[in-house]
Amino acid sequence: MLSDIEAFADFMRMLAPPTPAPATASTQHGNSLFVGIGCSLCHTPALTTGNAMASGSATLPSAALSRQQANLFSDLLVHHMGSRLADGITQGAAGPDEFRTAPLWGVGERVFFLHDGRTSDIVMAILDHASEGSEANQIVQNFQELSAADQQDLINFLRSL
Ligand code: HEC
Repeated sequence: MLSDIEAFADFMRMLAPPTPAPATASTQHGNSLFVGIGCSLCHTPALTTGNAMASGSATLPSAALSRQQANLFSDLLVHHMGSRLADGITQGAAGPDEFRTAPLWGVGERVFFLHDGRTSDIVMAILDHASEGSEANQIVQNFQELSAADQQDLINFLRSL
């Protein structure tokens, strides 16, 4: 008999990833801009899992969880994000302006963005990546130099995830 915590952990591990909306010409173009201007340098489109243990087993890898491609759009790494996002909180080895790249899968379903939910405007969430000391400054400048139509395609792509 599993404890409540084990049962909940199993439930969370086996949840299916979000399903992206079907691609359109606009979202496909947005996808290539996302890669082209450098968003994907941190928001890595896909990572592959290693040998993941089956729940409740000390030895058997789970076929459902092992060597699966996860389209999470994160490198799972911590980056300096500048003074605008800094919250003054040090967590483990991460300093006040360091945050782990937020996975963008399912971002189209989210209402509030960034670690403190400070905005519900996805464009603001992108612009807030830029401030003194941020590793993303050049990439945000690339975004701002896109035409309005290209920016909209990129946003449409994000909303489709
Ligand atoms: C230097 C690494 C880096 C680059 C480059 C980068 N991001 Fe991010 N992104 C992050 C981090 C870290 C967060 C989480 C910040 C936080 O929680 O306050 C984030 C958060 C986001 C969020 C909010 C997600 C959520 O659920 O709250 C969006 C949207 C986003 N990024 C889009 C983009 C787009 C579009 C680009 C390209 C223009 C981009 N990012 C470039 C690191 C990066």
